[in-house]
Amino acid sequence: MAPGARVGVLASGVGSNLQALLDRVHGRDGIEIVAVGSDKPDAQALARARAAGVPDATFAADGYADRRARDLAMAGWLEGARVELVVLAGYMHLLTPPFLQRFPERVVNIHPSLLPAFPGAHAIDDALAAGVDTTGVSVHYVDEGLDSGPLIAQEPVPVEPRETLEERIHAVEHRLLPQVVEERLCLAR
Ligand code: GRF
Repeated sequence: MAPGARVGVLASGVGSNLQALLDRVHGRDGIEIVAVGSDKPDAQALARARAAGVPDATFAADGYADRRARDLAMAGWLEGARVELVVLAGYMHLLTPPFLQRFPERVVNIHPSLLPAFPGAHAIDDALAAGVDTTGVSVHYVDEGLDSGPLIAQEPVPVEPRETLEERIHAVEHRLLPQVVEERLCLAR
């Protein structure tokens, strides 16, 4: 792979998937995480970026006229960092067309279910409530819908034992997302 694959990450929360990317792909095979953005100024993900020396910025929705204006500002910031792939790692807002048009087929999301089952913000609880035997993890391209873009990779996770389901799902996420990012960037080059 040619050197210099530049990745931007958007995250709203804890940032454990960002950490997996920082630990497993950042600085390897020419892949660099060069920007971490959030809609939440106090997201733990931003502290993880700073600890790794990666530039961060916050784009809070209430700082802009509307979501499109916020997304345009965020896209401009990522373009300024010459980002080639945008990873949503627990980013809890839908992206509007002005953002997606800037990064065609270059925005991916990690989601804790076997999509199209259980889209949305409560996928693990929804799977438990539905009584399914198996749920899992999906990585997909992002479109304007809710967890609805084309699938890239999936891995099933058995629901039982329920007490450890969340932990086991996160362990799969932390392996699958770095793997997909690496493969996706290899394919693009
Ligand atoms: C993950 O379960 C991810 O699949 C979902 O949001 C969660 C983010 O967790 N989209 P973290 O902030 O990466 O720890």
